[in-house]
Amino acid sequence: MPRRLIRRLRDRLAIVRDPVTFARRVGVGVGRECRLIAIDRNTFGSEPYLVAMGDHVTVAAGVRFITHDGGVWVLRYRHPDIDVVGRITIGSNVFIGINTIVLPNVTIGDDCVIGAGSVVTRDVPSRTVVAGSPARVIRTLDEYECRSMDKALHIHRLNPEEKRRALRGLAAPGSAVPDPDLTRATLVTPRWAAAWRGSARRSH
Ligand SMILES: CC(C)(COP(=O)(O)OP(=O)(O)OC[C@H]1O[C@@H](n2cnc3c(N)ncnc32)[C@H](O)[C@@H]1OP(=O)(O)O)[C@@H](O)C(=O)NCCC(=O)NCCS
Repeated sequence: MPRRLIRRLRDRLAIVRDPVTFARRVGVGVGRECRLIAIDRNTFGSEPYLVAMGDHVTVAAGVRFITHDGGVWVLRYRHPDIDVVGRITIGSNVFIGINTIVLPNVTIGDDCVIGAGSVVTRDVPSRTVVAGSPARVIRTLDEYECRSMDKALHIHRLNPEEKRRALRGLAAPGSAVPDPDLTRATLVTPRWAAAWRGSARRSH
């Protein structure tokens, strides 16, 4: 079997087993309680050691971190050895939506949401929601929280069967009323939040 194929299979296995360990192994800085969904060797680009993220970060499927400007390839006939590269730094408590591209020299602050399919070309201030190409601030995190609480169903802790039952109303046209017994709010402080806030306090 060609060596490249073997390496690809070995990577796939390692990613399925534990994506965070795989990312750390190729040099990405990954904090605590991060979720790296459906990553592969290309997710973190050709310089994965230039990407670092804090705690409680979700990287949704199809996200790409680009740490170099491949465009300079067209200049290499005059400057054969040039490369333009840059770090990508992501704070803590960040959600990066599906199929987002993050370009070099970008810092994303703490408590941010990056909309699906965004192209992040500039720094993202903490506690903001950005979206689009190029990504622009569309609201603050506080505004997003208010809006989301208006729309939210409290189903995240249900098992798949309970969730299915709770969402039956949404699935069947004509009745959009989720089962109220299963969607009551539960006010909890997640384990990661307590731990992270504790460590943030210690570092100030
Ligand atoms: C960015 C996001 C969080 C915003 O949610 P929201 O605050 O409810 O925003 P709204 O739907 O009210 O949209 C506000 C504006 O932003 C625009 N917008 C929202 N999401 C966008 C996106 N991903 N890309 C470009 N524009 C977007 C809307 O078109 C709207 O523009 P308008 O005011 O000109 O009509 C959400 O749209 C999103 O992309 N979530 C991530 C989904 C995802 O990746 N899921 C993967 C699960 S693992």
